[in-house]
Amino acid sequence: MKPFLFLLFPVIAFAEPSSLIEATKGKFEMGVGINDRIPEMKEEWPLLKKHFHLITPENCMKPDAIQRKKGVFNFKRADAFVSFAGEQGYGVVGHTLVWAKDDRTPAWFYLDDEGKPLNRDKLLARMKLHIDTVVGRYKGKIAMWDVVNEALHDGEEFLRPSGWTKACGEDFIAKAFEYAHAADPKALLIYNDYNNELSKKRAKMDRLIRSLKAKKVPIHAIGLQGHYTIDRIPFEELEATLKWAQSLDMQVVVSELDIDMIPRGRWWADGNIHREEMAKINPYPDGCPPELLKKQAEQYAQLFEIFNRYSDSIARISFWNLHDGHSWLNDFPWKRVNHPLLFDRERNEKPAYHAVIQALQKTGN
Ligand code: G3I
Repeated sequence: MKPFLFLLFPVIAFAEPSSLIEATKGKFEMGVGINDRIPEMKEEWPLLKKHFHLITPENCMKPDAIQRKKGVFNFKRADAFVSFAGEQGYGVVGHTLVWAKDDRTPAWFYLDDEGKPLNRDKLLARMKLHIDTVVGRYKGKIAMWDVVNEALHDGEEFLRPSGWTKACGEDFIAKAFEYAHAADPKALLIYNDYNNELSKKRAKMDRLIRSLKAKKVPIHAIGLQGHYTIDRIPFEELEATLKWAQSLDMQVVVSELDIDMIPRGRWWADGNIHREEMAKINPYPDGCPPELLKKQAEQYAQLFEIFNRYSDSIARISFWNLHDGHSWLNDFPWKRVNHPLLFDRERNEKPAYHAVIQALQKTGN
């Protein structure tokens, strides 16, 4: 070997992969939840193209967006999103068919024309019509669907009480999966939730998944949303949940990953008494301090080391939003300048991006 080639060799051998797609090749698919208007946001296309090949529309496929009024389906944004994906070569994740939370489901869904609650059969017929229409429209164009979203209770009960549980008990979940499977037998069907890696909610998820599997319901994966908060990431619980999923032979998708840099938990604590005070909190309006970015990088790396070890059962990892400037965490639950993702507002790679790439280079399982 000529001396100069010999000198170049180590540089080539240890060069960092040039994108998330390259770094995760053969491990899991890389996705991102993005603004519904992405077809018009050309300035965002290069970053999207470089790092992601699966896209989830942030809002336009939700029941409230598609069928805000009974029988009036609005596919304008969703159609544009799916066409964009087709033209540009992205896979699409549909989100979501049944959002089991009353404040996220149009009220008419549960009621008859006189405003009285529908009985089980009529409500299920309504659900079937919605699912048939939406899944049928994009059959073959949407690779995976979040079929039911956020049905598990945050407190002591099994399921979150809703118009669905009132009329159908837990049966509405099985039905949603059956209808979705009938409408597109090839789509990967997901049960999606938040905090479901925590042991209390995981126990409920275990009950749900076992019961669905016993009934041979076509459920193919569980979605861990992965909305984490800096310094409070439940690494051990996450690993326990990935082990649990393996034991049930269930695939996992990490569906909405981010790390909030401005903890928000107190917003809901103590009967909401802290809200006025919290609404004024905006500590990093001019940028995230370097020491915090370093911490975020370390914690993202720890997450990806775990994902790496369980890559056999993880089908996809999707971030929730493309870069810090687009994050829902700038607006919810109060307005502030947040920094939860791998790319900053100028679309530059943050320390967390490089930490993730390096974590992915470590040997997996
Ligand atoms: O588009 C309107 C705008 O016209 C209006 O002026 C403005 C005033 O409030 O509202 C705008 O709509 C908002 C929409 O986001 C688009 O920005 C809605 O109020 C707001 O509720 C909506 O929030 C979305 C939220 O889900 C509720 O659907 C967030 O963007 C979206 O990121 C968030 O995503 C959820 C996942 O679907 C499920 N898991 C949790 C995740 C984060 O909450």
